[in-house]
Amino acid sequence: MSYTTSVVGASGFTGGELLRLLAGHPEFEVTQATSREYANRTVGSVHPNLRDLDLRFSEPADLDGVDVLFAATPHGVSMEHIDAFREAADTVVDLSADFRLSSEAEYDEWYDGHSQPELLDESVYALPERNREELPGASLIAAGGCNATATILGLAPLFDGGILDGDERIVVDVKVGSSEGGAGGGAASSHPERSGVVRPYAPTGHRHEAEIEAEFGCETAFSAHAVDMVRGASATCHVFPDEPVTSGDLWGAFRETYDDEPFVRLVAGGSGVYRYPEPKAVAGTNHAEVGFELDPGNERIVVFSAIDNMMKGSAGQAVHAANIAHGFEETAGLDFQGLHPVGAP
Ligand SMILES: NC(=O)c1ccc[n+]([C@@H]2O[C@H](COP(=O)([O-])OP(=O)(O)OC[C@H]3O[C@@H](n4cnc5c(N)ncnc54)[C@H](OP(=O)(O)O)[C@@H]3O)[C@@H](O)[C@H]2O)c1
Repeated sequence: MSYTTSVVGASGFTGGELLRLLAGHPEFEVTQATSREYANRTVGSVHPNLRDLDLRFSEPADLDGVDVLFAATPHGVSMEHIDAFREAADTVVDLSADFRLSSEAEYDEWYDGHSQPELLDESVYALPERNREELPGASLIAAGGCNATATILGLAPLFDGGILDGDERIVVDVKVGSSEGGAGGGAASSHPERSGVVRPYAPTGHRHEAEIEAEFGCETAFSAHAVDMVRGASATCHVFPDEPVTSGDLWGAFRETYDDEPFVRLVAGGSGVYRYPEPKAVAGTNHAEVGFELDPGNERIVVFSAIDNMMKGSAGQAVHAANIAHGFEETAGLDFQGLHPVGAP
């Protein structure tokens, strides 16, 4: 039996990725895709890779009853429409930041407050590698943010392995592709403006800091750069541990955390051109690459992490979480590799 699904915000970038994943999913069937701007037009007219999909956009005001509703809408839309979403579906998986943080005070600090704070206790943050045990049966799921996901996956083994305890200095620099800004990303993401840039866009105060701090219970100094790629988030974390660390400690910690993870692969040194995590190598997939290098002279560990922001950083993460929530194989609909060689992703 297939579970029916709606994608609200299906004409956008992550909405398109959800449609692509759901169209090939063994358990989910996509029965509704909403867009106000493109209502009544075929999904393929906006997403040319999905021209074979026999589906037209409908208005988000006319939601069908489904098993799972994925909301891929801008910040603020889900919290405004959450009652209608939950009336339409047994499970809501939100890709926005609307239900990721756990308290109204955090939304006051990092966003512009919250209009449904009573639901924050109930919503489950989803970064399955960190909290898969909280997801079975969850009815309101908030897929983790892209830059936060890249950073958390990179740093997690250091916390799990006791190399960090939260008092150390951690500096994070993330380079992001233009698709992070969405289909309505405006001038900053338009091709002529984006071409060739390495542009700091959130040197301080990036909102994803809140998710990283919630995960590890410590402060991180976070900056982001917009770079000239379409897909991808590449996090470089500079970590200054209190005690000396060996390369063996790092290999042990990363293997312990990720050996059994289907979507995380360890890329640290070795040979060839791609010796560290590379967004190009995971483009279009739900995989993350993580790796590290030791810098004893500076008492520093450099941690690298690469994801596709629209996959492991949103749509893929959302489907992964929905798989777990429904008791399906975690990899259902997500078990495929990327392309090589490709142009800039
Ligand atoms: N892009 C990324 O890499 C990424 C990564 C992680 C998380 N996210 C989050 O995922 C969400 C979607 O991002 P995106 O990049 O896919 O955005 P996007 O490309 O701009 O798409 C937004 C979609 O939402 C619809 N929409 C806008 N306002 C709406 C409203 N009031 N009611 C119903 N539908 C509305 C739009 O279609 P119509 O206007 O035609 O209805 C469009 O389909 C955002 O919250 C974003 O922060 C994005």
